[in-house]
Amino acid sequence: MNITIIGTGYVGLVTGACFSEVGHNVICVDCDEKKVELLQGGGIPIYEPGLEELVERNVAAGRLSFTSSTAEGVEKSDVIFIAVPTPPLDDGAVDLSFIERVAREIADCMTSYKIIVDKSTVPVKTGEKVADTIKRYCQADCDFDVISNPEFLREGFAVEDLMNPDRVVIGTTSDRPNEAMQKIYKPFNAPVIFTDINSAELIKHAANSFLAMKISYINAVAAICEASGANVEEVANGIGMDDRIGRRFLNASLGFGGSCFPKDLSAFIRISDELGYDFGLLKEVQKINASQMNRFVKKITDTLWILKGKTIGVLGLAFKQNTDDVRMSPAVDICQRLLKEGAFLRVYDPKAMDKAKEVLPDDGVLYIDKMDDVSKGCDALVIATEWPQFKELNLVKAKEAMTAPIIFDGRNLFDPVSVEQLGFTYKSIGR
Ligand code: UDX
Repeated sequence: MNITIIGTGYVGLVTGACFSEVGHNVICVDCDEKKVELLQGGGIPIYEPGLEELVERNVAAGRLSFTSSTAEGVEKSDVIFIAVPTPPLDDGAVDLSFIERVAREIADCMTSYKIIVDKSTVPVKTGEKVADTIKRYCQADCDFDVISNPEFLREGFAVEDLMNPDRVVIGTTSDRPNEAMQKIYKPFNAPVIFTDINSAELIKHAANSFLAMKISYINAVAAICEASGANVEEVANGIGMDDRIGRRFLNASLGFGGSCFPKDLSAFIRISDELGYDFGLLKEVQKINASQMNRFVKKITDTLWILKGKTIGVLGLAFKQNTDDVRMSPAVDICQRLLKEGAFLRVYDPKAMDKAKEVLPDDGVLYIDKMDDVSKGCDALVIATEWPQFKELNLVKAKEAMTAPIIFDGRNLFDPVSVEQLGFTYKSIGR
């Protein structure tokens, strides 16, 4: 198939690379000319495991190319995916102006039948508005179908998730695009479900909100574990073995972050309000998420008393493992709170240091190149991201290097008994 993808962010670029990997011809379009130049020159604007090799291989095979011309993308392909950002607005609503602009641009250069696929996460009923916009702005006399095909990839596992999806959801009101969509997804060997457009759009918000709810649920249970002396990991294992519940997304933490869950929750609450339903359950999910960070910071201040002038080592800046993304990162949030109290930070992240430099203040933060050097002179260590390599931290050496052996583990990476046996004061989540 000849496919065009408009928007080369996490979703657009990885989707384009994976579609080309299974044999489709893909043109990736982006309005940011600098980004297009970077991609044309073999550079990759984001860190995502496996992506660089995938792009390199498919560009070399002539199946993947980059352009800043929407007209070129629309002309050369029958199926056009929209994968532009839908960022949050201050009031929790979603900024759909990028989607609307792309819809107008597509309408402007369409001269024959096109299938326009919305892959960006959008509020229910957006597909209808995209179709209306294209109809209004298209001068040529040609048919088109707008369909919804939400993306469920996780950052850090994007290639893996896209190549092996649990399911592919396609929302459409006409049968005409079905054959093309089946052809596009056939090589992925995943179950494909066809729904109406509104349902497909809702599936995405409902899925992300459900996962966020799972995390807030276990974080609330973690608070009860702390108060009662139970261990949240044992509780999560025990309930997770019930197939109806499942163990995944039951890791107690500093709370969820990233560019999706917080935004999608707010959007879903807002859409529900607009449709006349008060989604109180999801408001509580947000509240628990915020209180989780407050509870963690309180553990630090309860132990260290005064933070002003203290040196704190922070392991992790990305919002989760395997990514350089720091958007809505709980790790960055904690750094900001510690800095506000007057602490001095020694920070390390395997991938996210450059992006963190853009959001953290220059004063009071020292970026350390090696994980094992962070502890030097620290009054405490904070583990803020679940990078698996942090488990390999040499705790004996860390203890020697620290002023006081205290660890606040916001990701439950270590076994409390063995860390305490080494002489640390160790505080984690729900244990
Ligand atoms: C999420 C969805 O998983 C994905 O399907 C959707 O397409 C986009 O949003 P992503 O934001 O990349 O993906 O990350 P995810 O792995 O879901 O983690 C989100 C946040 O929840 C992270 O901050 C992570 O650390 C946190 N988390 C996750 C927990 O605190 N506990 C868990 O058990 C799982």
